[in-house]
Amino acid sequence: MTSTAMRTHLCGQLRPTDVGERVRLCGWVASRREHGEHLAFVDLRDHSGVTQCVVDGSVDVRNEWVLRIEGTVRTRPADKENAEIPTGAVELADCTVEVLNRADPPPFAVDDRTDSDEAVRLKYRYVDMRRPRMQANLRLRARVLGAMRRAMDRQGFAEIETPLLWTPTPEGAREFVVPSRLHRGECYVLPQSPQIAKQLLMVSGFDRYFQIARCLRDEDLRADRQFEFTQLDVEMSFASDVDVQAAVTEAVVDATEAAVGDRPGTVGRITWHEAMDRYGTDKPDLRFGLDLVDLGPVFAGTEVKAFQAGCVKGFGVPGGAALGRNRLDALVDRAKALGAKGLAWFKVAGADGAVVLESPLDKFLSDDERAGLVAGTGTGPGDLILVVADEWRTVCTVLGAVRLELGRIPVGEGERRFCWVTEFPMFDGLDEAGNPVAAHHPFTMPHPDDLALMASDPLQVRSQAYDLVLNGWELGSGSVRIHREDIQRQVFDALGITPEEAELRFGFLLGAFRYGAPPHAGFAVGVDRLVAILCGEENIREVIAFPKTQSGTDPMTGAPKAVAPHALRDLGLQLIPRTD
Ligand code: AMO
Repeated sequence: MTSTAMRTHLCGQLRPTDVGERVRLCGWVASRREHGEHLAFVDLRDHSGVTQCVVDGSVDVRNEWVLRIEGTVRTRPADKENAEIPTGAVELADCTVEVLNRADPPPFAVDDRTDSDEAVRLKYRYVDMRRPRMQANLRLRARVLGAMRRAMDRQGFAEIETPLLWTPTPEGAREFVVPSRLHRGECYVLPQSPQIAKQLLMVSGFDRYFQIARCLRDEDLRADRQFEFTQLDVEMSFASDVDVQAAVTEAVVDATEAAVGDRPGTVGRITWHEAMDRYGTDKPDLRFGLDLVDLGPVFAGTEVKAFQAGCVKGFGVPGGAALGRNRLDALVDRAKALGAKGLAWFKVAGADGAVVLESPLDKFLSDDERAGLVAGTGTGPGDLILVVADEWRTVCTVLGAVRLELGRIPVGEGERRFCWVTEFPMFDGLDEAGNPVAAHHPFTMPHPDDLALMASDPLQVRSQAYDLVLNGWELGSGSVRIHREDIQRQVFDALGITPEEAELRFGFLLGAFRYGAPPHAGFAVGVDRLVAILCGEENIREVIAFPKTQSGTDPMTGAPKAVAPHALRDLGLQLIPRTD
């Protein structure tokens, strides 16, 4: 060893080929075991792994102290090898130990077996992140970000940063507000996304833009939602939806390969209508079947009151006849809670081609209906058939939720099934005033074939909005944007936004569009969600270095906190005390 470097190897690096080498390791004490007065074993850990160091004499070190150990690599006696760790065939002997720093006893054991309370983990996040699982997650995240940047760069996209002190934008979520000191009584708003800024960049001629962008939304937190999150944000000019999807696919596929080593196959495409019709959701999990089928023709002239509805659909559950009455009752309750009048179930029994259905409804079915039900769902003896009748959207969403409940696979398990969902509806429904509610931001381009329906039948209008879905999670969304004033006017009219209101809310964007807006389209990938799935984590907190708790606090810093009275005075703010 000639190096003067503080360390010569990482703690997870040494192998039998290094035997005989004098090496220096730096790291934290993972454990210390004394063997009588003359021998101590210290397991030294860094992010790469652990090395067992044999120290002659006793050594006064504790867990999580920071050490440098110099020693000679030797093989362990055969019966002392540890096959569970990559360095398990070797150890360091003739060690000299240098204490680089002492440490308080850690609040929880620094290993993946720790199942400490989340508030405690977040309070001591810096210790929590020493654990192999957090190290692996955040390093995977770094590989994802690196691969995304390289993919975008390779495809000729320019990375451009946009402001965090911004102005309200029409994207739907509640915004975080930042009071201005210099302009008392006025506020900035933290961006929900760079949406408008990137559209302005298109007007400026940056025809391929991307940014790894921090976005901020003051919404209720869930497993897949934080106040602050990261998007791979993309916008392209003179490009179609398909061009955008191709560029994003490349970045996401590259990122997946960099993260987990295997490259996903072709990313499929499905329209929103087909996704709803077959899977009962706009974010289908394609890792399992249980596809919904149309049973309308089977029950066209039915006597069964429950099936006399605009839409009758169902699906077969292989082996589902084994489900007990309690489980079936729970599924029926769930269907009702989701808005269905009921959920009909039929257990398929019988042999030799004779169809026997076990169900409270069986006695009301004709022979043709019985046969049609079994043939339509492709079921046989031992299977279960579930049916809902109502209007189309209710039928789909209820069956979709039941399908997911019966087929659910943890998000990180099995294959990775990416899928583009296209042609989302332009509007979500009607508000109290009878105006359609925009399903996306109001700059989303309607489907060209449906422009004529905008005034007469807005709920039938499809948009040129699309999502990327992975294993039942919405990974990202985007759209072709409106760049023409006449179409924008039509959309605002449909939404009930007057020209004055439009000018007030997004005048600066509409103004910019009068200076030569190119046709453009874009997309944003939720990086936290992609990384969580690739890590096999169900909650994005596990892939964020310093996340907030479910209730939006940070146990480590104590944020949010009261600010000093003088800070409020500078901002011209007076707080109203809570009364609840
Ligand atoms: P959207 O609002 O659908 O679109 O957001 C895009 C993606 O960002 C992720 N995401 C979140 N991730 C974690 N926590 C949150 N609170 C959160 N909110 C959203 C999701 C989501 O699919 N400007 C448009 C995109 C565009 O049209 O180009 C936008 O932000 O993965």
